[in-house]
Amino acid sequence: MTKNLVAQATLVGSDQRGQLKHQRPLVIWFTGLSGSGKSTLANALELALADSKRHTYLLDGDNIRLGLCQDLGFSDADRKENIRRISEVAKLFIDAGLIVITAFISPFRSDRDLARSVIGEDYFIEVFIDTPLAECERRDPKGLYGKARQGLIKNFTGIDSAYEAPENPHIKIDTTSEHLTDSVDRILEYIDARIKTNTA
Ligand code: ADX
Repeated sequence: MTKNLVAQATLVGSDQRGQLKHQRPLVIWFTGLSGSGKSTLANALELALADSKRHTYLLDGDNIRLGLCQDLGFSDADRKENIRRISEVAKLFIDAGLIVITAFISPFRSDRDLARSVIGEDYFIEVFIDTPLAECERRDPKGLYGKARQGLIKNFTGIDSAYEAPENPHIKIDTTSEHLTDSVDRILEYIDARIKTNTA
């Protein structure tokens, strides 16, 4: 429904808003199974960034689904709409000059590709939390795998709904072998290197 709409330019843009915050806006997009450690890592990363005086915002699956996306379920179509909305919100926050961290399963490659194109290649860092299904199921922090195995939850990612692993993520994290602080440090190093490349 974009007929009769004309995009309006603003006098203050993303670059100026970012400069006021002494930073370059970015999206760090976490993807991985439920229970893989996305929220834990996203929170630890946001804390490290905030401690170094960066202006951040964390968009987290369960929180967003309790508000903006509370009308959506877990069919393929609803997940697609979930990720589309998050992508547009992340784009607005980029425009506001923020460093955005997202933690959504985002199981489908085509939806992550959409996120990348909405947000823009230069602003997008994909981080794959590559925790094996068996380990996520062993952890089962919310008891949801147990319910899914009993058939009490349908379309559960990894059980009866697909997870399409990224083929070429910018960063891959193995939470079974790497300590949380080392993972955070690795992401921070990548962010710094990327900012230098983008502004070179
Ligand atoms: S996504 O697939 O659309 O990206 P999202 O990250 O927003 O998912 O939400 C995932 C969270 O919803 C999980 O961590 C889990 O707590 C909860 N959840 C409830 N039902 C399901 C389901 N069928 N599949 C996956 N996660 C579910």
